[in-house]
Amino acid sequence: MSNLETLVFQAESDFVSAIDAASLEQAKARYLGKSGSLTELLKGLGKLDPDARKQAGAAINIAKQRVEAALEARRDALRLAALEARLSEEALDVTLPARGHGRGGLHPVSRTLERIETLFRGIGFDVADGPEIETDFHNFTALNTPENHPARSMHDTFYLEGAEAVMLRTHTSPIQVRYMQAHVARHVGQDSMPEIRIIAPGRVYRVDSDATHSPMFHQVEGLWVGESVSFADLKGVVSDFLHRFFETDRLDVRFRPSFFPFTEPSAEIDVAFPTGPLAGRWLEIAGCGMVHPNVLGHCGIDAERYTGFAFGFGPDRLTMLRYGINDLRLFYDGDVRFLSQFR
Ligand code: PHE
Repeated sequence: MSNLETLVFQAESDFVSAIDAASLEQAKARYLGKSGSLTELLKGLGKLDPDARKQAGAAINIAKQRVEAALEARRDALRLAALEARLSEEALDVTLPARGHGRGGLHPVSRTLERIETLFRGIGFDVADGPEIETDFHNFTALNTPENHPARSMHDTFYLEGAEAVMLRTHTSPIQVRYMQAHVARHVGQDSMPEIRIIAPGRVYRVDSDATHSPMFHQVEGLWVGESVSFADLKGVVSDFLHRFFETDRLDVRFRPSFFPFTEPSAEIDVAFPTGPLAGRWLEIAGCGMVHPNVLGHCGIDAERYTGFAFGFGPDRLTMLRYGINDLRLFYDGDVRFLSQFR
């Protein structure tokens, strides 16, 4: 075997045994580098006479081409191997089952609100809405709340900075004021005004925070105004609602005389469950009464002709009783472990 032939074989076997790009480049340098064996042979050509140089030159070039071809082949092989290694390393098993979507659910208080709305719609009540930022007039004055009432102090109510007499509503009664005013305006000049029958659900705000009070909570107030609406109607509507809400006939409901500026007479509504962990205790769950003539007057309703009742429930409290929850703050912590129990 000629020297050249040996050199080509040697190069081919060196390249094949190079295990990565770096060792392949080192092997290449030994043959094709500045002082590689093939390069040296080409440099030596100058010493030969023209005929011999031509022959030797042609032979060396052929050998060089074979070495270069072997180098290229090994480069390709190494590149392919690297790609395959990476593909198998980063392989995805597309047949694995997907993780799926987490299923959300309604907040327990939202469930209660929906339930209350459904029950009242069933007896012909409309659902009314209003702003959470209220004026002093709608939140207090129209509701017959005197200037010196404690609810009007900074201590109990969140007032807005920079604005005069603008606050976060402390109850949803202002919704009723707005509704009555709009109702009167719609029927102005007519012989009689159709009945008003609404509930007013929504968020309300007070400066208060402990296990049974949150600075933001919910209310659902109700209002029925007509020509012969009486306290007996109030008792009927409210006790019927409570029995339906708690899904039991065995629930005691009592009306205990009380005071609110916007109703006269006024009462607190208490319930007692005959069985269960709260058995035998009276639990206060709402305020109610006959709408005060001054309130009707502020809304443009003739108090000589029309009467009405109003009530106000705390849906947070109703939710706690219905599900046996003892800390109101759980509703607003946003802890999924608590919330997911109501899905
Ligand atoms: N607005 C009262 C409150 O926030 C509740 C209430 C409504 C009482 C209607 C009587 C009649 O406490």
